[in-house]
Amino acid sequence: MISFIGGTGKLGFGLAMRFANAGEEVIIGSRKLDKANGAAERILEKIPDARVRALENREAAEESGIVFLAVPYPAQGDILRAISEALHGKVLVSVVNPFKCVNGEFVKLNVAHGSAAEEAQAFVPHAKVVSAFKNISHEVFTRIEEPIRCDTIVCSDHEDAKKVVMDLAEKIGVKPIDGGPLRISRYLDAVTILLLNVNKRYGGNACLKIEFYDL
Ligand SMILES: NC(=O)c1ccc[n+]([C@@H]2O[C@H](COP(=O)([O-])OP(=O)(O)OC[C@H]3O[C@@H](n4cnc5c(N)ncnc54)[C@H](OP(=O)(O)O)[C@@H]3O)[C@@H](O)[C@H]2O)c1
Repeated sequence: MISFIGGTGKLGFGLAMRFANAGEEVIIGSRKLDKANGAAERILEKIPDARVRALENREAAEESGIVFLAVPYPAQGDILRAISEALHGKVLVSVVNPFKCVNGEFVKLNVAHGSAAEEAQAFVPHAKVVSAFKNISHEVFTRIEEPIRCDTIVCSDHEDAKKVVMDLAEKIGVKPIDGGPLRISRYLDAVTILLLNVNKRYGGNACLKIEFYDL
């Protein structure tokens, strides 16, 4: 079972739909139950046999061993404080990118701990934070009839949790690349912001494909 905090939003919803389509049981979390119900219904419209439920964020975090944090960066501190107790020993997947738009350009926000995921780990040291899926647009996840042609770099200080998330990525056809410890996530944040600026010029959804030569 996988819960999505902010599962009504663009990325949380897209990921939830992909995992539901892959046969996983998913829980849409929201600050408002009505909103979560609406998102769950939209998944069922597209995937009638989806195993999907709707709950308020805290209950959503309590229900699952794997919890995706899919809220805008400025909201992450407050929401983590609100659900902290529910996260003991759990895998917390951060897809959060700390950026803002200045004069039409995406710029990285200064994050005290280096990256949004490292900051999340500092907020909830009793959870196992994994940084993943940051570089893939929600539109890629929502188009469930199409295979995903993007890789994801996965970082964590918890090898067991990293493996869980890398296995999950494979279930939805995303190639996982082991990026090492969580401190590497600061470069993922930066690469995402680079891609957002590239997208602005090209109008598409650029993502990462990692090719290894000489392996
Ligand atoms: N959009 C993408 O393609 C994409 C791709 C990769 C990574 N990301 C990252 O994923 C995260 C979510 O992005 P998004 O585009 O999905 O954002 P979004 O649609 O604007 O918001 C996601 C959800 O966050 C919740 N939320 C908003 N403000 C909140 C607050 N103050 N406290 C608690 N919850 C709040 C809302 O859920 P409720 O109102 O239901 O509570 C909202 O539906 C961001 O950090 C973004 O950088 C996005």
